[in-house]
This record gives sequence, structure tokens and C-alpha cells, in this order.
Amino acid sequence: MDVDQTEPLYRYPYPSPELADQHPFVAHEHQRLEDGEMSRRAKAFLALVAKRRSVRMFSSDPVPRDLIEVAVAAASTAPSGAHKQPWTFVAISDPRTKARICEAAEAEEHTNYLQNRMNAEWQESLAPLGTDHHKEFLEVAPWLVVLFEQRYELRTDGSTRKNYYVKESVGIAAGLFLTAIHDMGLAALPHTPSPMAFLRTLLGRPENERPFAMFPVGHPLPGVRVPDLQRKALEEVLIVLERSD
Ligand SMILES: Cc1cc2nc3c(=O)[nH]c(=O)nc-3n(C[C@H](O)[C@H](O)[C@H](O)COP(=O)(O)O)c2cc1C
Repeated sequence: MDVDQTEPLYRYPYPSPELADQHPFVAHEHQRLEDGEMSRRAKAFLALVAKRRSVRMFSSDPVPRDLIEVAVAAASTAPSGAHKQPWTFVAISDPRTKARICEAAEAEEHTNYLQNRMNAEWQESLAPLGTDHHKEFLEVAPWLVVLFEQRYELRTDGSTRKNYYVKESVGIAAGLFLTAIHDMGLAALPHTPSPMAFLRTLLGRPENERPFAMFPVGHPLPGVRVPDLQRKALEEVLIVLERSD
């Protein structure tokens, strides 16, 4: 379709000629697909992501570093507020560092689970998952990826700049990371031993960074079991306001 539809649809084209004079723009690379092909792809993607599960026992089999790099590169394509990409991924396969993180996480979780830092409602929600203060998977999984959010930008000259919608942006990057890991045939667990401040000091990250989540990544331990969870039906999560003509 070569017909230029800009004129009847938009009174204010983007970019405006003034904007295009001031900042670089490129043509958007896009191939329009037939409805049938879109439907096929959409269903294939749903079938893929429906199979993703959080795993809590990993094999210790090594995973090549380049697979982790590709997953982080995929995550880093995420949209972000004002394109600030306010995230840092720290990928750890060093056993000593993993052991130190495991020890610190288990200490926090010991307080959470055994000294009542979690209230009754939280404990009730977690009951079907059966999680406790033992976090052996942090040491056993071949990779531990810690995701930091950059609360603000810290430039090399020490000056700072604001970041925007940091949690929203980092959350989307985390989702892409988990999806990339799943798509390549590996498993991960989003893990958030609260509070996680120890990760910043332990990993020597700067003051503008705050731990967002960590992800043990690897092959699932053969025969591992997962909670028999049901996901909400589409009708429970989607409201459609459809045109009526
Ligand atoms: C932000 C976030 C934090 C989580 N923190 C933990 C955690 O600390 N420990 C844990 O075992 N699972 C954690 N999970 C995993 C959830 O329990 C899991 O995603 C949920 O039960 C659904 O299971 P599924 O991932 O297999 O679909 C977390 C998930 C998210 C998104």
C-alpha cells in the first residue's frame, strides 16, 4: 500500500518538520502481515509463554555465558521512560560470590519466615508455593543475575540526571529477560529476598542503584516439580470497550 494516509488521519504529523530539523529520525522498519499470519504468531507466542514456570531447583550444569549476554541484550531493548534504560544487570557465575549472596539472602529470609517479619496475610498467600528460608538454588544454579534499577543517572563527572518511570521500565526489562531465558530453553526464578540492600554493597554497585530482583538461571533439575497454579481467565484480566458499528 503506497497511499499516503497521513493527510486525512493526522493534523499534526510526527515528527514535525521543525523537530526533524533538530533531532535525527529514521524510517521505522516494519513489514505488515496478513491477519491470518498475525493470528498464527500470536497463538504461537501465547503457547510459548504459557509454558514458562518459576523453578526452585536448578541443575548445576553450566550454561554458556553468551546465552546470558543475549538474554540481557534482549531485556535491554525494553521501552523505558524518556529512553533512559535505567537498569544494570550483574551476571554472576563465580561460586564464591554466589555463596556470599546465598548466605546473606538466607539470613534475611530467616528473619522473614521464622521471626515473623512477614505478616499473616503475606504468609497465607505464600503457603501454596511452600517457599521458606532455604535458598540453595542461589548457589546451585550456574548463573545468578541481579537486576538493579538506576534511581537516577550518575554521570562519570559525578553529576546526576533524573530518570523517569524507573520501576515501570525495569519491570518491563525484567519481563523481557525472563521471556528470553524461557524462549532459549532455560529456566529462571524471580527472587526478591526482602530487604535486598545487601546486594548493592556485596556487588559494589554505586549509590544510585537499588536492587530490583535477582534471577537464578539454569536448566531445571530433571524431574523438578512446580506448584499447580491456575492463571486467571482472560475475562478476569481484560475489559474491552469495543466500537459498536
Ligand atoms: C516481583 C516478583 C518477586 C518474586 N519473588 C519471589 C521470591 O522471592 N521467591 C520465590 O520463590 N518466588 C518469587 N517470585 C515468583 C512467584 O512466586 C511466581 O512468579 C508465581 O508464583 C507464579 O508462578 P510462575 O512464575 O511459575 O508462573 C516472584 C515473582 C515476582 C514477579
